[in-house]
Amino acid sequence: MLLETPANPSSTPAASEESVFLVQRLRRLRTSAALRESIAETVVRPSDLILPFFVVPGTGVEQPIASMPGVSRHSVDGFLVQLERAMRLGVRSIVLFGVLPDNAKDEAAAGASDPSGPVPSAIRAARQAFGNDLVIYSDVCLCAHTSHGHCGLLKQTPRGVVIDNDSSLRQLAAMALAHAEAGVDLVAPSDMMDGRVGYIRQALDAAGHSEVGILAYAVKYASAFYGPFREAAHSAPSFGDRATYQMDPRNAREALREAALDLAEGADMLMVKPALPYLDILARLRPTTQLPLVAYNVSGEYAMLKAAVKVGVLDEPKAVREVLHSLKRAGADLIITYHAVEALEQQWI
Ligand code: PBG
Repeated sequence: MLLETPANPSSTPAASEESVFLVQRLRRLRTSAALRESIAETVVRPSDLILPFFVVPGTGVEQPIASMPGVSRHSVDGFLVQLERAMRLGVRSIVLFGVLPDNAKDEAAAGASDPSGPVPSAIRAARQAFGNDLVIYSDVCLCAHTSHGHCGLLKQTPRGVVIDNDSSLRQLAAMALAHAEAGVDLVAPSDMMDGRVGYIRQALDAAGHSEVGILAYAVKYASAFYGPFREAAHSAPSFGDRATYQMDPRNAREALREAALDLAEGADMLMVKPALPYLDILARLRPTTQLPLVAYNVSGEYAMLKAAVKVGVLDEPKAVREVLHSLKRAGADLIITYHAVEALEQQWI
């Protein structure tokens, strides 16, 4: 084996004799920042980033989310102010999540399809303010609207209470329609009920919204990394967990089945969520589909990085840059990330 530095420096030969012959020296292409930049294989562009917003009813409401430093819930007026700032920095895509007070939730998730709810209102306001300069995605899921916090409706069976797949589809489709009527570009179903992409596609088409797309949360794991989001969206399940509908983190082949089904049902884009613990899934999915792939760098990933920065064990600009590039490198076209505004403002990408 050839070593660059002899183990015993006292026996170092004279400079002219020192160099060993290597056909390939990879360090030749790492000699300057300019050279490294010129051969970088992965680029993160502002238009690759999708910024999430939590929208609440009312006006003048701003509620910081303790576990997600720098992220707040906003009523539509404050959301518009934040959005304008984000747009100035180069954000061109957003995803909206509605957050409702407990007294606006019920067993049927009726509020999910309310055209005057926070998400349809925010879609209309953003569309009016920015026209088609902005790409608007909306999360479609019942968990922020059900009194029990599950992503679907409940049903009593001989085996106990279950999350009922097919009755949930109707309310999910009604929610998607309310967003389509308000002017969304793509709805993003995150509920993980079977068949929801096809059901929503049909409902949109039947109502004359064939131009509205579907970003399917195709591969969504039952993950511990959603903890801060559930605080943000008041959407933690009041009993049980989401393991009967979200995927088991131990499974990879099943992810390919989920993605193939959503594609067959009419999805326009596919998502893998969370992002960092599932880079292998992104990389495996990439060669199997020509659809745009989206990675969701979720709340727990954001909170973990922020917490490490706060106690001084990570360099935030470098860490965020590395995270975003790793997702692109693994195969993502687009990245949903709470880091978007800071990353652009501070020029971390
Ligand atoms: C709704 C939904 C969740 C997230 C996005 N949509 C939470 C969940 O499934 O419990 C998580 C996003 C994040 O953690 O940033 N179902």
